[in-house]
Amino acid sequence: MLSRLRAEFDAGLDVFLQAFPADASAGIYEPIHYLLALGGKRLRPIVALAAAEAEGGDVADGLPPAMAVELFHNFTLMHDDIMDAAPLRRGMPTVHLKWDENAAILSGDTMYTLANMALVGTNPAHLSTVSKWFHQTALEVCIGQQLDMSFEDRDDVTLAEYTEMIRLKTSVLLAASLAMGAAAAGASAERQAAWYRFGEQVGLAFQIQDDLLDAFGSDAVGKQIGGDILADKKTYLWIHTLASGGREVLESWQGRGDDPAAKIEAVRGAMVAAGADAEARAAMDRLVDSACAELARMGLDAEHHAFFSGIAQHVVERVS
Ligand code: IPE
Ligand code: IPE
Ligand code: MG
Ligand code: MG
Ligand code: MG
Repeated sequence: MLSRLRAEFDAGLDVFLQAFPADASAGIYEPIHYLLALGGKRLRPIVALAAAEAEGGDVADGLPPAMAVELFHNFTLMHDDIMDAAPLRRGMPTVHLKWDENAAILSGDTMYTLANMALVGTNPAHLSTVSKWFHQTALEVCIGQQLDMSFEDRDDVTLAEYTEMIRLKTSVLLAASLAMGAAAAGASAERQAAWYRFGEQVGLAFQIQDDLLDAFGSDAVGKQIGGDILADKKTYLWIHTLASGGREVLESWQGRGDDPAAKIEAVRGAMVAAGADAEARAAMDRLVDSACAELARMGLDAEHHAFFSGIAQHVVERVS
């Protein structure tokens, strides 16, 4: 099911993008093609399509919201990589380094516009509901990104503040992908809300795993390992380490950029000594349990139930 939905999504996106060739319009679409061609997991559009099917619709119903969420996601990545000074994305140079920051800003803005254009293809009977989900979510992602950036300069971020920040920057988009896919297939408001609640829990776990991979992942991640540590990001790992014996190490490196390799080594050492990685895994397991409890209440057929519980499990086991 996963590979079928991915193939159907990629085919639909290719058709949509044909109207915006890489060599047209002063090259503004070129970084968009570059980033999208690097792929990524396509998690958000896949679950949007699967939710549409689970609610009795088909791929054609789910495709406009699926394209909208993936284009929006890639727009946020292009701008996020400027904000995070990230050199690598999906194993390749980031757009602001391969081109320049202006290109990444403008192509990112363009991709957000393309997301809106894709969304308009939604069945008119459901467009206003799907649009409301999308725009509310876009707003929340920006707020989440603002929180993420403002936390870099702080050393007193609480677990509750962190959780709200990742809910906004990451989790709501996964949740809305499911709700939008379901809505585009004509699901009721109650069903949409249930999909959203499931996605919210999975999305929180997704970002904790992203934090773990950033600190301890392999080359498969395709991003600079240790980037969060260098940027003083307040991750699950950082917050747990501060509270569990690592305060001295973390405070001594906060705001410093003089020796990046030593900073990564020292902070990672403090995280391991504090048991932060094990604690992060336990937190993810609790979130997956709560997501699966939500799923069990939804009364899906066996195939869709297995698919979505597999997705929840995959999110915390993935290596990229
Ligand atoms: C990365 O998202 C950004 C976060 C929200 C953590 P993904 O890990 O889904 O990135 P791709 O699309 O698979 O590359
Ligand atoms: C990004 O979070 C969330 C958004 C892009 C909205 P991160 O900054 O952790 O994502 P990565 O690790 O760069 O993919
Ligand atoms: Mg970021
Ligand atoms: Mg980033
Ligand atoms: Mg990250």
